Amino acid sequence: MMLETPRLILRPFRDEDIDLLAKMMANPDFMRFSLGPYTREQTQTVLQKFLSWNQAVLPSQFAVIFRGNNELIGYCGFLHQQVDGTKEIEIGYRLHRQYWNKGLATEAARAVRDHAFADLKLPRVISLIHPDNLPSRRVAEKNGMKLEKQTVFRGFPTLVFASTREQWLEERADLHRC
Ligand SMILES: CC(C)(COP(=O)(O)OP(=O)(O)OC[C@H]1O[C@@H](n2cnc3c(N)ncnc32)[C@H](O)[C@@H]1OP(=O)(O)O)[C@@H](O)C(=O)NCCC(=O)NCCS
Repeated sequence: MMLETPRLILRPFRDEDIDLLAKMMANPDFMRFSLGPYTREQTQTVLQKFLSWNQAVLPSQFAVIFRGNNELIGYCGFLHQQVDGTKEIEIGYRLHRQYWNKGLATEAARAVRDHAFADLKLPRVISLIHPDNLPSRRVAEKNGMKLEKQTVFRGFPTLVFASTREQWLEERADLHRC
C-alpha cells in the first residue's frame, strides 16, 4: 500500500533503505525526544520490525519520500504500543531536520490518519508525545487529535493524543455539509 500527498510519497520500507535510515537514526536531531542516536545495528532491528509488520499485513511505518528530489526524508506511520495496560496503535513520525517546519509531517500524518480510518477502519489511533516536544504536539493537533491524558511511557512523561474513527467520520460529514 502506498499513500500519496501533494509533496510526499509514503511507501512500505524495503531492506535497501537500511543505509539512509541508519544515517538518519544516528542523528541526534532526528532522534529528539527518544532514546538518542541509534547504532546501525539498532536501526537494523527497527527496520526488521517494520518489515515483519508489512509481511504480516499489520499496520506499519511508511518510508517518507520527498517528491521534490525522490529522497527518503524520514518515516511516518503506525507503531504497536501498550499504554497503561491497553493495546494501542500509534501514529509516529520523524523527519530529517532539513525538512522541518514546512508542514510535511502534518501532510504525512494526515494521510496516515485517513488511511487508518478510511481503509483499515481502525476504531482509534493515538500519538505519544513528550510534553516538551512542541512541534510534535502541534502536528498532533493539526492532525485532528485531542489531548486525552498525561501518563508515563517507558519511564518518560508522555502526553496521549487520540483520535477516533467516529470523530473523524463526523468531522468529514461536517465538511461536506458546508
Ligand atoms: C516533530 C516533527 C516530525 C515535526 O515535523 P515538521 O514537518 O516540522 O512539522 P510541521 O511543519 O507539519 O508542523 C510543525 C509545527 O510546529 C511548530 N513549531 C516548530 N517549532 C516550534 C517550537 N519550538 N515551539 C512551538 N511550535 C513550534 C511549527 O510552527 C508548526 O506549527 P504551525 O503550522 O502551526 O506553524 C519534526 O520536528 C521531527 O522530526 N522532530 C524530531 C523527531 C520527533 O520529535 N518526532 C516526534 C516524536 S513524538
